[in-house]
Amino acid sequence: MRPRTAVIPVAGLGTRFLPATKAMPKEMLTVVDKPLIQYAVEEALAAGIERIIFVTGRGKEMLADHFDYVPELEGALRERKREGLLQQIRSLVPTPGCLLFTRQNEPLGLGHAVWCARHLVGDLPFAVLLPDDLVWPKEGAPPIMQQMCDEFEHQHHSMVAIMTVAQKETHKYGILDPVAQADTTGRLVQAKGLVEKPAPHDAPSRLAIIGRYILRPEIFDLLGQKKTGAGGEVQLTDAMALLMQDHPLYGFRFQGTRFDCGDKVGFQMANLALALEQHEMRERLLPFLHEQLTHWTAQTSP
Ligand code: UTP
Repeated sequence: MRPRTAVIPVAGLGTRFLPATKAMPKEMLTVVDKPLIQYAVEEALAAGIERIIFVTGRGKEMLADHFDYVPELEGALRERKREGLLQQIRSLVPTPGCLLFTRQNEPLGLGHAVWCARHLVGDLPFAVLLPDDLVWPKEGAPPIMQQMCDEFEHQHHSMVAIMTVAQKETHKYGILDPVAQADTTGRLVQAKGLVEKPAPHDAPSRLAIIGRYILRPEIFDLLGQKKTGAGGEVQLTDAMALLMQDHPLYGFRFQGTRFDCGDKVGFQMANLALALEQHEMRERLLPFLHEQLTHWTAQTSP
């Protein structure tokens, strides 16, 4: 059985990206030529997800509009015979009824945002994708959520995507505490605990959780207790740690590169990396990058 429903929480305030996110949702920030939300929706659909639930907040209406038809624009493109572009924007609109919306009235944390989707998710395993984590699959590998759903079909356990981070970075992530004999080099790593944002000297490992999950519906009862954790927010990691007392949970090592697009530097990296993937952009960008490198190396060398 594969997850058929995905939750995409988009109700956060995006404070790390102010002032850009003052009036515009963080998820509409553009990497090369697509907003972050589009990468997440395309990834979910590629994994075979049939229903996508956006947990939105005030001022996020633009996200729904992005996945709707725009008759005026389409008419203009048709008149100008821009068929390619027309097809591109029309293909963005998912099958009617596939996108569902609910609101998180206050940004009380990621765990609370996921809980807001409980009635729409129902009683089956579901995926969660955080659009500010953009994951570019390794060449030849499927998109990350597809990798996870394929794995889930075999073992049916809750799963979180993980990557190895530097020890000094552990305070930025939920960190997985692997079971003693866990094979920490293989694809799946069984967890015996999870710790949200531990200081480097307290971190049980360097295996950091990133924004892709497949969860069992039992998580909703735990999230419903609304216990606050790190940062005074209802943390998804804390509820997963409780869920693990009754149900096994695995870290999943994905094949690909993750960019933290909620962070200004991570966002620039994503733009550069994805632009360089395209031949035409690469031709124009590489000479510019060489020039910049020479300039800044000269400026910063003693
Ligand atoms: P982040 O912590 O990265 O998002 O949450 P944020 O709060 O918007 O950003 P900063 O830290 O202030 O810059 C990860 C994901 O969880 C959603 C966000 O929209 C993002 O997709 N989220 C977070 C919610 O939907 N509700 C919340 O209360 C918190």
